[in-house]
Amino acid sequence: MPSSSRLYAAHIKSLCQRYDRALEADGFDAVLIGAGHAPPVHRDDQHYPYRAEPLFLQWAPLLAHPGSALLYRPGKKPLLLVLEPVDYWHQPAPVPRGPWQRALDIRVFRKPADLRRHMPRAEKALALLGEPAQWRGLAIGGRKNPRSLLAHLDYDRACKTPWEVQCIEQATVQALAGHRAVHTAFDAGLSEFEMGLMFLAACGQTDAELPYPAIVAMNRNGATLHYQHRDRQRLPARERHSLLLDAGSSVAGYASDITRTYAARRGEFAAMVRDMDRTQQQLCAQVRPGVSFPELQLSAFTTLAELLSRWELVRLSAEEMVERRIVDSFMPHGLGHLLGLQVHDVGGDLASPQGRKLPRPKRFTRLRLTRTLEPGMVVTIEPGIYFIDSLLARLKKSRHSRQVDWKKVAALRCYGGIRIEDNVLVTADGHRNLTREAETT
Ligand code: GLY
Ligand code: MN
Ligand code: MN
Repeated sequence: MPSSSRLYAAHIKSLCQRYDRALEADGFDAVLIGAGHAPPVHRDDQHYPYRAEPLFLQWAPLLAHPGSALLYRPGKKPLLLVLEPVDYWHQPAPVPRGPWQRALDIRVFRKPADLRRHMPRAEKALALLGEPAQWRGLAIGGRKNPRSLLAHLDYDRACKTPWEVQCIEQATVQALAGHRAVHTAFDAGLSEFEMGLMFLAACGQTDAELPYPAIVAMNRNGATLHYQHRDRQRLPARERHSLLLDAGSSVAGYASDITRTYAARRGEFAAMVRDMDRTQQQLCAQVRPGVSFPELQLSAFTTLAELLSRWELVRLSAEEMVERRIVDSFMPHGLGHLLGLQVHDVGGDLASPQGRKLPRPKRFTRLRLTRTLEPGMVVTIEPGIYFIDSLLARLKKSRHSRQVDWKKVAALRCYGGIRIEDNVLVTADGHRNLTREAETT
């Protein structure tokens, strides 16, 4: 976690201002943000892994304190209520020490039902944020997750404070240690399962602490965008073709989200990976305030179509490939998304703090980020080209089939796909590529 108390204090000041505006606009006197709880497993005495509520984490980096809450009242110091149950079956997680503690009033309570005792009586209009089930049986009155209040907060959350940017930078450094370890392990012939373990060890995190399950996909598995298995089998050298590693790490709840694709040997696929890397860098270079993300997506489609043409997979001009939607069969996901406390962070489709949604671009219905870029946003730029059987089968049946070199496509199927993904901060006059900066220092 960043150690700067100055940055944390400034972060809390910005949060207070955002909440002041949002609460006033929606007519609330106070807000109680729950840290969330771990849902119980049906007919068992265990719980599913706990994941702290991002709205709570934005105030306090308590990743392992279910049942805790943050009370904010405009004009008052934010009050952090930490649940530390007396429990001889489990050990309560220690509260991380740090300069962040000075910015909040902190009180500890021992039983969930005691949260109510810390509620000020005078509040007339209390908003309760977070997973609704956590308030069950606590007798705390309030409006749960008011939509317009959430929209206000989500809209603002798209722009990160300098403290939040530092958390993402540290999460980047951590994840890159994992990427280096996995790259070495791939060259040494280890299995997907072993590489997954090496990623965790190098990042110093458990699976549950990662912002999303790491995608460790060898060969054709790279064609499944969110491939979730870990093959235990080591493959002989002649059967190892490619590795797509999409894996991030988290610091104080803030995520990094990084993808690299490796070729097992020199040759055509290695050259294609280099081409994709150059294309990705050209797209990153276009990130600056005022750029509409759907337009950047269109620009990505044009450059990816140029690659399909250069690789002699499709015999059409780039413009024709985009217009006839042929690129879509090779790149079926958005160019990127907001990044923060959630790997696909909130607020990407909002036109205003009042919660008005931006119209979904007809051409890119799956795009998670449709806003115009602003300083402070952290976005991913993650172009890819994949050989996905179901999409290619559809293309083969279409009237464009004749323009595709199917023999070449068949020869490339064993590689699965290529994706390159960096995390990019929009600055006042351009951008900083947080991933490349950390990779080269
Ligand atoms: N790791 C998920 C994504 O890149 O969006
Ligand atoms: Mn991503
Ligand atoms: Mn990713």
